[in-house]
Amino acid sequence: MSKVKLKIDGSPVEVDSDMTILDAAKEVGIDVPKLCYHPDLTLHGACRVCVVENEDNGQLLASCVAPVEDGMEISTRSMKARQARRRNVKLLLANHPNDCLGCDRNGSCELQDLVYSMGIGSHDVDELEGERRDLPIDDVGPSLRRDPNKCILCGRCVRECEEVQGVSALQFSERGFDSIVTTAFDLPQSEINCANCGQCATVCPVGAITEKIEIKDVWEAIENDDIHVVVQTAPSIQAT
Ligand code: FES
Repeated sequence: MSKVKLKIDGSPVEVDSDMTILDAAKEVGIDVPKLCYHPDLTLHGACRVCVVENEDNGQLLASCVAPVEDGMEISTRSMKARQARRRNVKLLLANHPNDCLGCDRNGSCELQDLVYSMGIGSHDVDELEGERRDLPIDDVGPSLRRDPNKCILCGRCVRECEEVQGVSALQFSERGFDSIVTTAFDLPQSEINCANCGQCATVCPVGAITEKIEIKDVWEAIENDDIHVVVQTAPSIQAT
């Protein structure tokens, strides 16, 4: 494999020529924000949360899909790149339900993490308030709950189901604003060839697909001694 030399945020790096800018950034310890990217899945390049600036021509590149080139000088933290990433996250929020506190993924949502790390506040969201979807929630199956209103169309669940599980129970449907991830004929997940493996929920970065765990079932399991609960205290956080 031939090698290419480039600079990322001023740090020189030499990597294989088939690598992406995101991979090269990782080599020099730079973590570029990302959302539709998943290390176990094929590249998708849909969310544009990972954009960086090519300092040679000012072009913005989706670093998770853009290949490295010899002599490139990339900035992951130029004003232009940071503003573009922030705008792209705000656009994702524009039609996203504003109910984090009631969401199963509150505290473990990758979109929420990005919002906090970019300092996006309610005034930013109001500025780009868009039309919200009002699609039915699919929770009739035994183990999964799909809320397409929370879907950000990253396609991780579609790729996981097809590429890793070999099931292809989920797919993209419709166009433009109406685009959704759904099942064949939009049937409930319980009526298709879904294996209920739950891997779609594992890779979903938001609360669009979650595992159904009824709190009463958890209590029942504890009472029946089917599961054991380990209580851990959180480590103290040192202010810096
Ligand atoms: Fe690169 Fe989504 S993470 S386009």
